[in-house]
Amino acid sequence: MTPLGEAAAALIPAAENYIKELFAGDFGGHDADHTLRVYRTAVFLAEKEGADPAVAGLAALLHDADDRKLFPDTCARKANAVSFLRAGGAPDELIRRVVTIISEVSFAGTDSVVPSSPEGMCVQDADRLDAIGAVGIARAFAYGGSRGRKMYDPAEPPETGLTAEAYRARQGCTVNHFYEKLFLLKDMMNTDTGKALAVDRDRFMRAFLERFLAEWEGP
Ligand code: ADP
Ligand code: NI
Repeated sequence: MTPLGEAAAALIPAAENYIKELFAGDFGGHDADHTLRVYRTAVFLAEKEGADPAVAGLAALLHDADDRKLFPDTCARKANAVSFLRAGGAPDELIRRVVTIISEVSFAGTDSVVPSSPEGMCVQDADRLDAIGAVGIARAFAYGGSRGRKMYDPAEPPETGLTAEAYRARQGCTVNHFYEKLFLLKDMMNTDTGKALAVDRDRFMRAFLERFLAEWEGP
């Protein structure tokens, strides 16, 4: 393990505790469980892809700690992540690496930045993988419910190719979210390992939606 990897590994248990406290009480899609799933997937991807698993894992644990929606005041400088890392005695180089990963993963709320490091690619893939497949389906409906949205409305067709701003302003039914975002994610993966997982999860999600729409119409 590199010295940087060792420094990252030493901070992981404290980072787990930190995010559990930070996300206590949020059920709108950014809970500690999401972060922990992203952490496990990021470490898995990093091991397969030859990236540093500890750096990827630490960044995954902190990837939503300064999310624009939940923490608008700390978002710009990633102040939550930085304070946590400083308090834990992280070397400056590790802080820089982790902050870069977090910034690239969550860039402007769109998914258009390709991360500049292999670890960043693993974290971004892991975050996207958590939005698709069985867990992704559950998250989408949980999110829609938390915002009082309909599950489905046949009178309201999905709109693809929205700008980031128009996308955020959308109040559409949750089924539209599959067409507007979730079905696009498998073609946006950075790593081969992530891509293979995404293809499988995407297939399951499409089969689910086919059944959903068929059952909606009635037997
Ligand atoms: P993250 O910051 O983890 O990349 P988002 O904040 O974009 O993700 O979304 C969190 C979760 O809520 C994801 O699972 C996503 O699919 C879901 N979600 C976001 N917007 C919508 C929406 N308009 N309808 C349904 N689900 C949504
Ligand atoms: Ni996330």
